[in-house]
Amino acid sequence: EIKRISVPQLMARKGQEKIAALTAYTAPFARLLDPILDMILIGDSTAMVGYGLPDTLSISADQLAAHAAAVVRSTSHACIIVDMPFGSYQESPQQAFANAARMLAASGADGVKLEGGAVMADTTRFLVDRGIPVLAHVGLMPQYVNTMGGFKAQGMTDESAEVILRDAVAHEQAGAFGLVLEGIAEGLGRRITDALAIPTIGIGATPACDGQILVTEDILGLSGDRIPKFARQFADVGAVIRTAVEQYASDVRSGAFPAPENCFGVKR
Ligand code: KIV
Ligand code: NA
Repeated sequence: EIKRISVPQLMARKGQEKIAALTAYTAPFARLLDPILDMILIGDSTAMVGYGLPDTLSISADQLAAHAAAVVRSTSHACIIVDMPFGSYQESPQQAFANAARMLAASGADGVKLEGGAVMADTTRFLVDRGIPVLAHVGLMPQYVNTMGGFKAQGMTDESAEVILRDAVAHEQAGAFGLVLEGIAEGLGRRITDALAIPTIGIGATPACDGQILVTEDILGLSGDRIPKFARQFADVGAVIRTAVEQYASDVRSGAFPAPENCFGVKR
């Protein structure tokens, strides 16, 4: 029996072994990723990647919990973390706890991730003290798209870098088990990683992070023609799917599919 990687085991990777993480929203991807990765995130990026929405703001806790349940059901090895969606935790620590507990109960995931600077540290503390592991997400926070005026790298000035460093420290002190660093200056990512005792997981941060995460569709050529600067396309799965679907459609149109072996009650 394979035992799932726990949150404390992820924490123990700091300075030892890099954490390899990706997103998954559905069973087929979760099944493929699980034996290889240390952590799988059910990201609210599924709003954009899976639902074709322009940003991550309009996905609900129930939707993400349903995706998380599919991922948990299809995995046995990786640690499973689910994003808290916009509007499900910003109001109060109590609101955050109620929604996080509901999502974990509905899915069986191991912990939650939430976006926010030092202002959200009290919420991190409230959840951690009550048994919910929290992965905090600072730097470029997509749920702030409307206040940022787009998706832009953060911490490019000394002043804004100091703010992000303080955000990171605040979540560490509040008990976060790790920190996602998204879309920040490379040197800042390095500084935060050196300053903290908890693992940092980078996405557009620095190779110095204790781990890396990307959106799976971005590395497989399934995100359309726009892939972010911080991603790398490791395969063109889109081309594989296109070829298979073209063959299928052609065989349907020619009558080559279905063959006798695909039919019931046919003597061969
Ligand atoms: O929603 C998401 O996919 C994320 C990233 C960290 C990959 O938050
Ligand atoms: Na997210």
